[in-house]
Amino acid sequence: MTAILHIDASARKERSISRTLGETFKHQWLTEKPADRFIYRDIGSTPPDFISESWIAAVFTPEEKRTDEQNLLLALSDVLIEELSEADVIVISTPMYNYGMPASLKAWIDQIVRINKTFTFDLNRGDFPLEPTLSGKFLVLITSCGEFGFEENGARETMNHLGPHLRTLSKYLGADEIHEINVEYQEFGDKRHKRSIESAYKSIPELIKRITKKLASPESPV
Ligand SMILES: Cc1cc2nc3c(=O)[nH]c(=O)nc-3n(C[C@H](O)[C@H](O)[C@H](O)COP(=O)(O)O)c2cc1C
Repeated sequence: MTAILHIDASARKERSISRTLGETFKHQWLTEKPADRFIYRDIGSTPPDFISESWIAAVFTPEEKRTDEQNLLLALSDVLIEELSEADVIVISTPMYNYGMPASLKAWIDQIVRINKTFTFDLNRGDFPLEPTLSGKFLVLITSCGEFGFEENGARETMNHLGPHLRTLSKYLGADEIHEINVEYQEFGDKRHKRSIESAYKSIPELIKRITKKLASPESPV
């Protein structure tokens, strides 16, 4: 049985393109694999807390020396990391806000990319002391944006701080393989937007087939 962690980051509950696509992904996955398990976090509606000075101090306090207050401060982080660790596939459905990820999604990332949990730090490794602890997962990024041309060689390629940022972080999520489904042109609401939506929906069953096939095969990264 495969576990899929689904993170929804749009602040909109109504008419959210990324939410609707994420929901479709889940529905189609379960149609294909009814026994699989989805773990769901609606961080768009209920954003995780921002990390604070005391949170950082708690993280850097050895586990056996943490106070009850510090353990309480890290409780959400512990749960979110547990959910991530259980997942074979991570689906993040998110809008682009101000050319990057919503603050709620950054808050989730800050809660889970944590020393001695999702990465270790060792200066003996030289100039690259951070090493992720998780691996073998698939990451599916489902994004929606109002403008267009954020792809490689696109007119706004250098303004895209959503996909590239999440790709950089993906190794700390344990993702070895990343797939993106991107809707563009929402603010134009024209034929190009319609085409972009159609192509996103069309790509979902194909992507599910590819991932489930890899998960079932012995050379799967998971
Ligand atoms: C606060 C805010 C900031 C946005 N910033 C951008 C942006 O920088 N670039 C862009 O192309 N679209 C931007 N948009 C448009 C959204 O990305 C677009 O409406 C998207 O469809 C929202 O996702 P959703 O439909 O899942 O809610 C922004 C929208 C909002 C509400």
